[in-house]
Amino acid sequence: MSRTFSILKPDATRRNLTGKINAVIEEAGLRIVAQKRVKLSTAQAEAFYGVHKERPFFGELVGQMTAEPVVVQVLEADDAVPKYREVMGATNPEQAAEGTIRKLFALSIGENSVHGSDSDENAAIEIAQFFTDAEIVG
Ligand code: CMP
Repeated sequence: MSRTFSILKPDATRRNLTGKINAVIEEAGLRIVAQKRVKLSTAQAEAFYGVHKERPFFGELVGQMTAEPVVVQVLEADDAVPKYREVMGATNPEQAAEGTIRKLFALSIGENSVHGSDSDENAAIEIAQFFTDAEIVG
């Protein structure tokens, strides 16, 4: 078993899609072992997306991620990181495969409904930014 970190983004919370997205996650065999709805501060969003700080979309990304609530989650499965990336679909929803979360729900590359970790190492770092070990119950 391994873990990945997930965010249901503001475009999803705004449109009341968190249950529908969780259904896709669970039907794919990922177990939601921690979850909370939070409003990110600018400092939290800038730290979380620090790797993108030189990218032209950084300001817009931080603005969108802090404008409305998000749901942060820990997901567990065999090979959780690649499995969730497959379930999410491509970053750009126009390139996302049929049946993926982004194909089903995303509005644009910026408002793409979900985030998922890109490696086991980053999953551990991202999980630790939002959850203590005691809050993760498998
Ligand atoms: P996410 O997986 O959360 O990681 C970085 C986010 O930046 C990405 O999803 C998109 O929502 C957002 N983003 C906005 N514009 C771009 C872009 N041109 N390329 C990649 N990511 C982008």
